[in-house]
Amino acid sequence: MKLNVLVLGSGGRENALAWKISHSPALGNLYCLPGNPGTSEMAVNIPGKLSDFKFIADTIAEKGIDMVVVGPEEPLVKGIRDYLEGDSRLGNLMIIGPDKAGAALEGSKEFAKKFMDKYSIPTASYASFTEKEYDSAISFLRTLPPPYVLKADGLAAGKGVLIINDFDEAAASLKEMFGGKFQEAGNTVVIEQFLSGIEASAFILTDGEDYLILPEAKDYKRIGDGDTGLNTGGMGAVSPVPFFDDSFRKKVEERIIIPTVRGLKEEGFKYRGFLFIGLMNCGGDPYVIEYNVRMGDPETESVMVRIKSDLLAHLKAAACGELSSQRITVTDETALTLVAVSGGYPEAYKKGFEISLPSEKASDTVIFHSGTAFSGGKVVTSGGRVLTVTALGGGIESAREKAYKILSGISFEGISYRNDIGKDLMTFK
Ligand code: AMP
Ligand code: GLY
Repeated sequence: MKLNVLVLGSGGRENALAWKISHSPALGNLYCLPGNPGTSEMAVNIPGKLSDFKFIADTIAEKGIDMVVVGPEEPLVKGIRDYLEGDSRLGNLMIIGPDKAGAALEGSKEFAKKFMDKYSIPTASYASFTEKEYDSAISFLRTLPPPYVLKADGLAAGKGVLIINDFDEAAASLKEMFGGKFQEAGNTVVIEQFLSGIEASAFILTDGEDYLILPEAKDYKRIGDGDTGLNTGGMGAVSPVPFFDDSFRKKVEERIIIPTVRGLKEEGFKYRGFLFIGLMNCGGDPYVIEYNVRMGDPETESVMVRIKSDLLAHLKAAACGELSSQRITVTDETALTLVAVSGGYPEAYKKGFEISLPSEKASDTVIFHSGTAFSGGKVVTSGGRVLTVTALGGGIESAREKAYKILSGISFEGISYRNDIGKDLMTFK
């Protein structure tokens, strides 16, 4: 039976998921809600809001959709799985994404820390405080060496983590967080030990019992070359990550993935979907920085092109609790993703500039759309992160060369990107 699939979301991550799913022999019709001009090349876009669960449920019923893949975290944290499962018309629907209880691993940093403590998963030591506990929070802060890591408990669009060197500045920031700097996301603040090391993102697909380890990736979060300037949603990615060798992967699996999946089960979450584990490699030992209950963006744009096996078959097995039957195959080649952003991003930027794209497709490269829109028959910029270019190569150097060559053929007013994606990893091995 062919499967009709709906991907929820509109970014580069969703474009990459739709692209990979579109290669499956088991696919019937593919839809994206709302999607973007990139997804329209492989799927039917359905305009709509991700917050409108009723409209999403009606669409699934009307189009005869068999599987829904939830791209971003917000609908999961708000309970879209629980909502769809409660709709009697959708009894056989396969859903990729955890229930509301499981999504709290991303929705609340305090909840995630408690989970890690309970299942003995290595992470930075911490304490959490509310506004009433400001004095205790300051006392705790005094026991830590700088830099100080302050995290708003709730979802804050990736901006809720502050790392501050100066004690007085940290104390002032704490006050601001309690005062509403991140709205209610900052009602509770997690203060944690600073971990020094190199970051990497690990990904699993799980049915709550078994798991497949997907290719890992490194994300480049700062706007400027050499990891300078403001934090962004991600300016590039590379997979594989040279230090993520077999011995490191084994530590991640034994110390982190196995106890995490055991925890998902013991807590009674209905966790069928992706789990993104943000890691710090501290002298060869992995520590969890955060869980995300979805894939990463732009990491997905690198990860998807390395998976050779049928993702839709893996997703179906995950949704049905049959993941133990699946084996994933991955190319050894390096995938490198560059993100082209609007001038001014991550601060204020203008939208609506026409995008000029290469007329021919080059082999081993894919352009995924992030913040684009159709306007008068043209593709225009409509977000901070506009497009991503992913190239596959025998190593980082050749992937870099191909990706930058394609990017140099893309233009729009104000286009900006990092020039050093993957450079730091070229000195490894
Ligand atoms: P998060 O939103 O939790 O991923 O945090 C955002 C970024 O802050 C991470 O990608 C890290 O670069 C950094 N970070 C978070 N927690 C720590 C920590 N305990 N020690 C060092 N860096 C951290
Ligand atoms: N690239 C980081 C994230 O998706 O959260």
